Amino acid sequence: MQIVESVSRMLELSRDWPPKAKVGFVPTMGYLHAGHLSLVQQANLLCDITVVSIYVNPAQFGPKEDLANYPRDIDRDLQLLGNSQVDYVFFPTTKEIYPENYRTWVEVDGLSGVLCGGSRPGHFKGVATIVLKLVNIVKPHLMFMGEKDFQQVVVLQTMLRDLNVSTQIVPCPIVREKDGLAMSSRNVYLNPQEREQALCLSEAIQIIKSLYKKGITNSDELIRRGSEIIERKDGRLDYLKLVDSNSLEDMTVADSHTRIILAVFIGRTRLIDNQAMV
Ligand code: PAF
Repeated sequence: MQIVESVSRMLELSRDWPPKAKVGFVPTMGYLHAGHLSLVQQANLLCDITVVSIYVNPAQFGPKEDLANYPRDIDRDLQLLGNSQVDYVFFPTTKEIYPENYRTWVEVDGLSGVLCGGSRPGHFKGVATIVLKLVNIVKPHLMFMGEKDFQQVVVLQTMLRDLNVSTQIVPCPIVREKDGLAMSSRNVYLNPQEREQALCLSEAIQIIKSLYKKGITNSDELIRRGSEIIERKDGRLDYLKLVDSNSLEDMTVADSHTRIILAVFIGRTRLIDNQAMV
């Protein structure tokens, strides 16, 4: 495994990818968990060369968000990746990614302003910009992304399509703890009591799915029943919505294209989760 710290070295490598090799890319912000490693596994399976980036992107954090405290453990990350048949780890510095006088940003209209984008203004502008930069630097054929960040996948698929970038996203299933909590680097913030409360996200999804199976399709009713679970566990709901899986628009009547999607504060930690209705 080679560790690449400079943009120029990564560009040298990507300019010379062997012509027949399929290159897979897993962009991360580090503090890796089994969810990230499942993306690496999938990349290894479908590609000849696997590149993982580790970069905590300041541009996707709001002024009151957890950038300074975002969990980091590069030694552990490198050890995990070293055991996972990764070929290259790209680990750039902010000085190189956003040099002085950096001026160019990418925005995906509409999709960036709803759901998490409504509560975190500017977040997806930061995500779209860094991911386009990373894709331009790494030049992968396939990019592996977890469906836990479902909106992120939709925003980035739209960006790549609109800007005629040939990299394809391979969305990969959410990896969950045994009790249903979606894996996230932010789970480390939860104290034991909050860890228990955090189950309300997957429980709300499950109740909505089971009511839908029984024939309830009215979104207001389904959302009300899901919200009750969050309140019962003292979670603070940011949003709970039933949206169309492609457009992310609210659906008044749920159907087989519906995605259940939510964000909840457990104490000071904001967690997200989602699932297809069927
Ligand atoms: O999902 C993430 O970890 C980040 O948003 C990403 C895609 C690495 C961009 O910084």
